Amino acid sequence: MPYQAVVFDAYGTLFDVYAMGVLAEKLFPGHGPAISNLWRDKQIEYTRLITLSDPHTVSGSRYYQPFWELTRLSLRYTLARLGLRASADQEDALMAQYKHLPAFEENLGVLRALKQRGIQTAILSNASPDMLHAAVAHAGMTEWLDHVLSVDGIRQFKTAPASYGLVAQALPALALNNILFVSSNAWDVLGATWFGLNTLWVNRQDLPPEAIGPAPTHVGTNLKAVLSLV
Ligand code: LAC
Repeated sequence: MPYQAVVFDAYGTLFDVYAMGVLAEKLFPGHGPAISNLWRDKQIEYTRLITLSDPHTVSGSRYYQPFWELTRLSLRYTLARLGLRASADQEDALMAQYKHLPAFEENLGVLRALKQRGIQTAILSNASPDMLHAAVAHAGMTEWLDHVLSVDGIRQFKTAPASYGLVAQALPALALNNILFVSSNAWDVLGATWFGLNTLWVNRQDLPPEAIGPAPTHVGTNLKAVLSLV
């Protein structure tokens, strides 16, 4: 399968969302991991709730709110659920960190190697463009990415088919077969596989595969797995 473009998910795949747990632990000792896990789950749950409740394909969901807002609201839910109170400064500190999440250590090298091999590179993310561009710039990835695609323009979150359709639109010269979609989120890989993309699941946490749907086209344990496929 001659892949000519590789499209990456952002959060969990390029950027370590669970790194939030370190700051959360500092601010709320004993609660760091619970905050970061529940926060992430709630954030994703809200995206699904919005898109499922009104999967309007032309103008997007009327319930749509940018991912940045959903991230803040899911943080508020998480703290309330855990019985914790955050000052405005603490909330802002956690949100600010979201724009400066660390990238997994091998990622920059993989992006650079792909560009050296003449492969097109892109991100497809639920995140709002400003949040995404800040994270990409902070990680020093800007020059190694040809496209940074956000679902914000269509107001439908992954795993709506229209979200994966953005990939085909951004790479009109390529057949779907020539594009590899890479995510550490098994649900995202399944959505992309159902859409018709070839997929690589980067199973960083040694999780079981999803119990429904087709298997990913490829499975690896970190981003370097991409380099053996192109
Ligand atoms: C992203 C989140 C969902 O789309 O991982 O970047």
